[in-house]
Amino acid sequence: MNAGFIGIGRYTPEKIVTNADLEKVMDTSDEWIRTRTGIEERRIADDSIDTSDMAFFAAEKALIDSGISADELDMILVATVTPDQPFPSIACMLQEKLGATKAAAMDISAACAGFMYGVVTAKQFIETGAYKNVLVIGVEKLSKVTDWNDRNTAVLFGDGAGAAVIGPVSEGRGILSFELGADGTGGKHLYQDEYIIMNGREVFKFAVRQMGESSLNVLEKAGLSKEDVDFLIPHQANIRIMEASRERLDLPVEKMSKTVHKYGNTSAASIPISLVEEVEAGKIKDDDLIVMVGFGGGLTWGAIALRWGR
Ligand code: UT7
Repeated sequence: MNAGFIGIGRYTPEKIVTNADLEKVMDTSDEWIRTRTGIEERRIADDSIDTSDMAFFAAEKALIDSGISADELDMILVATVTPDQPFPSIACMLQEKLGATKAAAMDISAACAGFMYGVVTAKQFIETGAYKNVLVIGVEKLSKVTDWNDRNTAVLFGDGAGAAVIGPVSEGRGILSFELGADGTGGKHLYQDEYIIMNGREVFKFAVRQMGESSLNVLEKAGLSKEDVDFLIPHQANIRIMEASRERLDLPVEKMSKTVHKYGNTSAASIPISLVEEVEAGKIKDDDLIVMVGFGGGLTWGAIALRWGR
């Protein structure tokens, strides 16, 4: 039995903060942010919307898209490093809000690679036959852990949520291979004290290396090569990192998802938000071979090769 994506949904807050807005409150420039990161604007959730709310909005859409009801969910996995509170988990809060009465529920902490960790975990339960439908969400309200006086980090991040119902799909489709990894020795380069603290250059070097390697590894594990790839969905951290991954796969510009200019780095939410946007734009079609790849604090990384379609 193959596990694949049977429904997807996203939520991004209404409020847009542009680079020009940031120029007014810190020593930065639109030119610096665009050329160093590719970011033009980001969404910031207002005080009335916390992480669990964004997760709920995205989850509702994914459920509608999947055609299954909440009481058919066997498990809820929420990847986030910005939960409303340490516990109960966002997953448990959603279990109640959605009415997913028979679902097991837990959060996953793997920073920007969290959605990949969630999808791969869901795959294991489905392919062993233990569970049928698993709701996986990547969600962050990074604005609440951003130091708005630190221009090194404040210009990078945004808020949002992306969700997917993972379930059995027809033969030949679904998640063909995966890679997950971690290197705790690099934890010091990106962590949260009160706010996010980052050694940008170190994370950059790690990301460029790991995104390319993991993408090639999942292709090899699936018995495929880079010529087979129809679309790449990289974690949307920085256009320069994303471009390096694209070049490693020899893909043309139009075969890589780019939403970083609109949303900034939304951590665990960036891959599923991008997936929803590309499917809605008609850029991903049934039987396309998709590579998704992410990296983040921990350090962590994860990638999948996926044959799109139910
Ligand atoms: O999801 C994972 C999370 N993290 C990442 O993916 C981050 C990975 N790293 C990066 O994306 C890049 O390293 C950054 C975008 C964070 C920085 O780009 P960079 O090309 O590595 O710049 P840099 O750190 O070498 O800094 C260059 C200069 C510095 O000035 P000096 O020391 O050369 O005078 C910074 O102080 O740019 C300065 N700078 C800024 N200037 C204007 C740093 N932030 C800003 C800013 N506006 N916002």
